[in-house]
Amino acid sequence: MTTPLPATPVPTPYDVDTSPISLTPSSGADVDPIWAAVVRETRTRGNDIHLPISLAYAERLCHAYPAAERLLVRVAILLHDTGWARVDEDRIISEGFSGDWRTSAIRYEHEKQGCLIAREVLPPLGFADAFVDDVCAIVDGHDTREEAKSLEDALVRDADRLWRFDHAGIALASGWFRMDPATYTDRLEHEIVPELLTEAGIAIATAELERSRALLKTAVLR
Ligand SMILES: [Fe+2]
Ligand SMILES: [Fe+2]
Repeated sequence: MTTPLPATPVPTPYDVDTSPISLTPSSGADVDPIWAAVVRETRTRGNDIHLPISLAYAERLCHAYPAAERLLVRVAILLHDTGWARVDEDRIISEGFSGDWRTSAIRYEHEKQGCLIAREVLPPLGFADAFVDDVCAIVDGHDTREEAKSLEDALVRDADRLWRFDHAGIALASGWFRMDPATYTDRLEHEIVPELLTEAGIAIATAELERSRALLKTAVLR
């Protein structure tokens, strides 16, 4: 079951933890069997960095939005980009991160493959069909769909963006987009922050961006 999405950016009455994400890694070994099932799929496109950091952000967002089904958010973010491991690796950078990258064919392919992986790994681990359907509804279209379908979908989408504001995310993703870190942090501020769907996500992004810019000396290294 998913939760209807309120008007965005979704407010939260709770205090939002905006400390560096490295201070609050994802917790709970309950999803470790899923990690173990997709180790091979984490070895593509920096997924072994992107997915664990994004899961940590997703768990932080779940604290700010306790109405969301936490396990659904956590499993969907863990699996959302595993499909990159099953598409043509040469096309990931050439099509996935340049030109009209948001709607490139390879983007749709990695979403479809991610759903197939979810349907392979989750049922043998005991997840019910309805839960797997909810995971796939979020994974399918997570990059290419205009609208978030539910609160859980919105939290996954924000977590998927928030990892880029941490210095590890900037280090990896600026290279994918062939940008220097200063230019990339400018893009985060002007393009990605306005896309965030939750007030908690905006607060976290703003705090991480300020720290990352100071750390990477983007005021002078430009
Ligand atoms: Fe993706
Ligand atoms: Fe992602």
